[in-house]
Order: sequence, then structure tokens, then C-alpha cells
Amino acid sequence: MGFEVRKLDGGFGREIVGLDIAGGIAPETATALRQVWLEHGVLVFRGIGTSPEVQLELSRCFGELEPHPIEKFRLDGYPELILLTNEGGPVGPVYDFDGVATTQRIPWHTDLAFTATPNAGALLRMVRKVETGGQTGWLDTAAAYDELDAATKDEIADLEAVYLFRAGLEEMRFNQQHGTRLSPRKDSYPHFPPVANPLVWTHPETGRKVLNVSTLNIEYIIGQRDERGDALIRRLIEHALQPRFQYVHEWENNDMVLWDNRRTMHAAFGHPVDQIRIVHRTTIKGDVAMGRILPETAEAGAAA
Ligand code: SIN
Repeated sequence: MGFEVRKLDGGFGREIVGLDIAGGIAPETATALRQVWLEHGVLVFRGIGTSPEVQLELSRCFGELEPHPIEKFRLDGYPELILLTNEGGPVGPVYDFDGVATTQRIPWHTDLAFTATPNAGALLRMVRKVETGGQTGWLDTAAAYDELDAATKDEIADLEAVYLFRAGLEEMRFNQQHGTRLSPRKDSYPHFPPVANPLVWTHPETGRKVLNVSTLNIEYIIGQRDERGDALIRRLIEHALQPRFQYVHEWENNDMVLWDNRRTMHAAFGHPVDQIRIVHRTTIKGDVAMGRILPETAEAGAAA
């Protein structure tokens, strides 16, 4: 097989040990890696992500890569790599958390949950880690679904929610992070129409049911745009965010972590704005629609 699979702390995800990428990855090794990814959701590769080329070679084992829809996030010369860094100034907003000016804190989310066709996965490579904070966490939304009680599974089986693009913590209705904004609200992003996605999604490759409550994007349950619907969303988020469903990675330079975006949420824990962190990321294209694009009026309430 060309590698060994090891358990990670907490049971969710696996570490891949002994993989030699330098000479290229054989097709049978790529197939075997893809199977482990589908089975375990998160794969950790410690210390072997030494270049963009290595990252791209590994990423391509899991599917077609796609450039980020927001062009300013792409790395020069490598359209399939996204650059996430505060070198040259923070890209996203800066918040005060407990007296520390913090950048790159992104609450639990599924990538592109605000579109009808989220990406299949992504792979992060730590180019320059920070000394304080900077962890990334992943959360197993298939296990979170499995462990819901039967009554809740019945209640949510056919429900859909509206999901929106959100960049600032104060715009997220179910945000769990409460910092004070320090940077001005000047971010400019493309407009994304509202989408309706199911609260329970069936993974297109494994057939597992997945709880879909991207905390960054979820806005309201269609047909329950009221306290009852909001209370249900809060209950589902509280359930999903339990530490027993999580794996948190403490980065070293050249580590790479791959995830299946269709059965996980992830979160960036953030770091002091005066420390430089550089991360490169690939995105594995999704080709199965989860939901549907709504008319613009849905945001204002017509779909409720
Ligand atoms: C991401 O959400 O892709 C970024 C994660 C990180 O910067 O740790």
C-alpha cells in the first residue's frame, strides 16, 4: 500500500505514516489513500509537505482541484493553491478576544455551505506556523448525525435551511465566538445568492447521513423562521460541537491535513495579529449538488 494508517487522539481521523511523495504517488497508492479518506474523513500527513508541488501531487489523488471562487485568495503562479496568511496585513477581520488582537479565527463551518454544490474536500499545508494559537479543528458531522436521538432524526429528516455567505462574526446568526471587532468593516466580497440545503445530507460516495449545520452560514429553517426553528438550530449546533466529535491539529511546519468536506466541519482557532502564519490550501471539486439556489427575496423572508 506504501503507507501505514494510525489512529489519532480522540478516534476521529487518521494519520498517514511512511508515505513517500517525492518520487510521485503510484495509482494504487492513490486509490488506497482515497479509500482511507472516505472512511475516516480527515487524514494527517506530518512533516512531508515540503513544497507546493508535493501538496498538489497529493491533493490530486482525491479528485479534480478547483480554484477558489474569490480570486484574491489564489496564490500567484499556482491557481489551484489558496494563500491564507496575514503577511502584509490581515486579509479577514481582526477581533479582540480576551485582550488579544486576533486574526484568522473562523468559526465551525463546511466550505462553500453557502452554495448549492460544496466542494468535496480540501488539503491544508502549514508553510509557517505561529507560536501562539493557530490550531485548526475538524468535526465529524457523520458521527454527530449517528448520535442524534431517534426523535430528532425524525424531526429533521426532511427539513431544509437557508445558508448565506458570511464574512464577519457579527453577521452570523448562530455564531459561537464573541469578540470585539477591531478592524473597520471594509471587506468587499462577491455576492452569493441564498441557497436552501437540507439539514441532513446523504454523502454521495459513502451513503452516510451527515448533519449539515455550518454555524458560519446557517440562517433559518425553511417554514420555521421563528423561535422554534432557531431553538432547533441551536440544539443541533450544541450537539455537533461536542469535543468528542472533534480532532484539533497542533501544527508543525510542513504538516498537511486533508478533509472530506461532505462529512466534516472545520474551524480556524486564530492567532495574535502580530505573528505571521502562512498556509497553502487546495480545494477538491464537488460535483454533487446538495441543495438549490433561491431567489434573492429568500434572504428577506419569502422562503420562510
Ligand atoms: C480554512 O478554513 O480553510 C482555514 C483553516 C486554517 O487557516 O487553519
